[in-house]
This record gives sequence, C-alpha cells and structure tokens, in this order.
Amino acid sequence: MLIIHNFVVFEGGDGSGTSTQLDLLQKRFSRQENRSLPPFYATFEPTAGPIGELIRRALREDLVLDPKTTARLFSADRNEHLYGKEGIAGRCGRGELTVSDRYTPSSLVYQSLDCGEELPERLNRDFPGPELLLFFDIDPEIALKRLENRPVKDCYEYLEFQVEIRRRYHRILPRYEAGGVRVAYLDASLSPEEVAEAVWGELKKLPIMRKYKA
Ligand code: TYD
Repeated sequence: MLIIHNFVVFEGGDGSGTSTQLDLLQKRFSRQENRSLPPFYATFEPTAGPIGELIRRALREDLVLDPKTTARLFSADRNEHLYGKEGIAGRCGRGELTVSDRYTPSSLVYQSLDCGEELPERLNRDFPGPELLLFFDIDPEIALKRLENRPVKDCYEYLEFQVEIRRRYHRILPRYEAGGVRVAYLDASLSPEEVAEAVWGELKKLPIMRKYKA
C-alpha cells in the first residue's frame, strides 16, 4: 500500500469520541507553549464540501439514495479531500501533520453493510494509506449512550448495527497493518483526558514530531 507520510486517521464506531479527540488535539496544537510543533491541520469525512453535504443529507435520510450511490459519493468526496485544492496529499507533502476524522476504513466497514464488500473495496483500493491509524475501540452500548442527547440521529446509530461495525473494524484493520500502516488500538471508554493522553503518546512517535522536538 502506498503510504502518505504525516497523515493520521482516527476511526471508530459512532459515539467513540473521534471528533471530541480531534478538537482536543487541535487545541493542544494551538496552545502557545507548543510553538515547537509542526503545522497542524484537522479535517474530517464526509467533508464540508458539496459532495460531503450531499452524503450528510443521505445519512439523515432526507435524501433517498441507492446505497451504492452513497458508496460512490463517499469515494468521490475522498478523492477531492485528498487531491483537490488544499487537499491532504499536498498538505502532508508540505510537512503539515494532517489528521482526518474517518477515511477509507469507514467505507470498508459501513458501506459493506448495505452494499456488500466488493464495491467499497473496489472504490477504495487505489487510495493511499495513512502513516498512522488510531482506532477508538469501545463497547457500542457505552458509545450510543453518549449520543443519546444529540438532536439528530443518523441512520447508523443503533446497537445491533454498531456491534457489527465494531466486529468489521477488527476484521479489516489488520489489512492496513499488513500494508504498512501503523495501527494503534485505543481504549475509548476512558475519560476524554485519558484518551487524549493516549492519542498524544502515539502521535509523539511520528518522525515529523521527533524532527520538531530536536
Ligand atoms: P461522523 O462524522 O462520525 O458523524 P457525526 O458528524 O454525526 O459525528 O460521520 C458520519 C457518518 O458517516 C458515520 O456514521 C460514519 C459514516 N461514514 C460512512 O458510512 N462511510 C464513510 O466512508 C465515512 C467517511 C463515514
């Protein structure tokens, strides 16, 4: 697998805390005392661009699409995210540490549930891998409790579904490891502060971080 250096991906089921952790990480990078750190860019999928917007409407079920159409939209959104203007590939190449909340593993896991495995695999096999993949592992019951207070549910936020999602993550992540991606499994049931420390511990091992510390 081709690897994009300086590219990190957060993955996990719904309610596993990836967005919270990305916020905390961004704050850590913007703190004054951390001036010696590399330039940092936080991003997410589905993106805030036009294709991502369409996907979010489909996930909220106010736009009805064939699941195979949604799978294709996810990969189109990703292509733009990587290679479009101000995309991930260019940023990482310029030495920006780029962290994305979700990437290809989300498509392999989520879209395989309603499209089968072949289409998401075909649509995603040419995308390069990240240097580091952090998997936020958590019991789906705890994760869904965290989402209870949210006003809008998307179509994936149900227990049996999330149990299957977790199982599929555990099945596909070794493939990324075999392809040369460093994969770290984090206990996402810990407090946000404890998880943030674990995230930081993994990030610190990246060559780009060592370079700035030197
Ligand atoms: P997420 O950002 O976690 O949702 P929220 O903004 O509500 O926190 O992502 C939205 C949903 O998109 C999530 O349930 C997983 C799903 N998803 C896929 O099904 N396939 C993909 O390729 C990606 C990137 C996300």
